[in-house]
Amino acid sequence: MSVLITNGRIITVTDDFIGDIYIEGEKIVSIGKHLDITADHTIDATGQLVMPGGIDPHVHLDMPFMGTFSSDSYETGTRAALFGGTTTVIDFILQKQGHSLQEAFDEWNGRATGTAVGDYSFHMAVTDFNDGTRPEIRTMVEEHGITSFKTFMAYKGALMIDDRQMTALMQEVRRQGGLVTVHATNGDMIDYLVARHKAEGKLSPRYHYLSQPEITEAEASGRFTDISHYTGCPGYIVHLTCEGALNAVRNATIRNQHIWVETCIQYLLLDASRYGDDFDGAKWVMSPPLREKKDQATLWAGINQNLVNVVATDHCPFRWEQKLMGKDDFSKIPNGHPAIEHRMELLYSEGVRKGRISLQKYVELTSTNAAKIFGLFPRKGTLAPDSDADIILMDPNRQHTLSAATHHMNVDYSAYEGWQLTGKIQTVLLRGKVAIDQGECKVDKGYGQFLKRHRHIHI
Ligand code: URP
Ligand code: ZN
Ligand code: ZN
Repeated sequence: MSVLITNGRIITVTDDFIGDIYIEGEKIVSIGKHLDITADHTIDATGQLVMPGGIDPHVHLDMPFMGTFSSDSYETGTRAALFGGTTTVIDFILQKQGHSLQEAFDEWNGRATGTAVGDYSFHMAVTDFNDGTRPEIRTMVEEHGITSFKTFMAYKGALMIDDRQMTALMQEVRRQGGLVTVHATNGDMIDYLVARHKAEGKLSPRYHYLSQPEITEAEASGRFTDISHYTGCPGYIVHLTCEGALNAVRNATIRNQHIWVETCIQYLLLDASRYGDDFDGAKWVMSPPLREKKDQATLWAGINQNLVNVVATDHCPFRWEQKLMGKDDFSKIPNGHPAIEHRMELLYSEGVRKGRISLQKYVELTSTNAAKIFGLFPRKGTLAPDSDADIILMDPNRQHTLSAATHHMNVDYSAYEGWQLTGKIQTVLLRGKVAIDQGECKVDKGYGQFLKRHRHIHI
């Protein structure tokens, strides 16, 4: 099967021109102006932006967490991602403390295999690093192509590791050519603040936010950056939210250290005023919590200073009945919010259309940088001969409104209800196949492939 996309505005991190893309099977064969080729199927992209499929490197699908499971399966989550132009996701496997990485891999693989609609890979979250786990790092890298390892400096008593384990893990991951990613907040401080608020009878969602002040994130981000520097292991901070944390990363540049930084769409667009006095704030109970307007300004600036490299979602949806588990106690509200479907359109509308970022930066943040950092480039993350034909066509002028009534995520509220956006994903190709067209999904459960990744390379 061959496909010819004609007369679109082709955007990559280095290109911006009106041209054509010719695809055979799963791969792009050629790109240029006025290609003189006939294909089985032609898509007229006149007036549309043609860009690499999105890569969201931070999602939690069907994840056991806080006494429940995140509500999108690999099927519903990756399908919703496709509707929004994200063709690849990277999910997190969680090692159970006292158990091996392989057991966790088998469990997650079992849930995803034959289920995903879009392409996917896994990071491996190491929650118990010991002499038994050490040799498994190499197995993950070499046999499974899992080259990034996740650590939690918070969620004390559940997922958190201490600095001793962090140092030892980073030494081993460096040896194997991998990368360590981190949820960087100070777990002990948060644990204390949660307990104190509860003891004082302060139980509403707002106290989730007040239990994780900026300093908890700034301190841990600095500590992680130091351990990364000492061990020489490449480091990536997930869901960075605030000025203090970004300054820790900025300071490290003085000694010529680079830490990769991901923020998430919600931290750019939403702020802590969502946490009022009622339970509605539970919609945005996530860790770290939403911050202040000054932090949003820092993050937008950090993007253009090349300090923030990726915009992800940390998609971790829970239906309202699940959020109600914490009705009388904020610490029992499952942490996370739904966004996998809307990251690309939100960032385009609020970022590109409002003049905060260029189109080239948009492609970097939503696709190319994640592909490079996580060992998927150039198969994914760009439009080039031999790359997978993961391609989105966006109508840059079409206006639409976000709502739980129309989204495809398995969650009964929208964190962005009523938001009016300009720019709509119209058509999505995944490995050469039209996956989304005219608001319909054309590929089935099981079409999504597991992606083995290369070792980390610098960009
Ligand atoms: O609130 C969040 N972020 N939930 C998912 C788990 C995590 O910390 O990323
Ligand atoms: Zn996290
Ligand atoms: Zn997460």
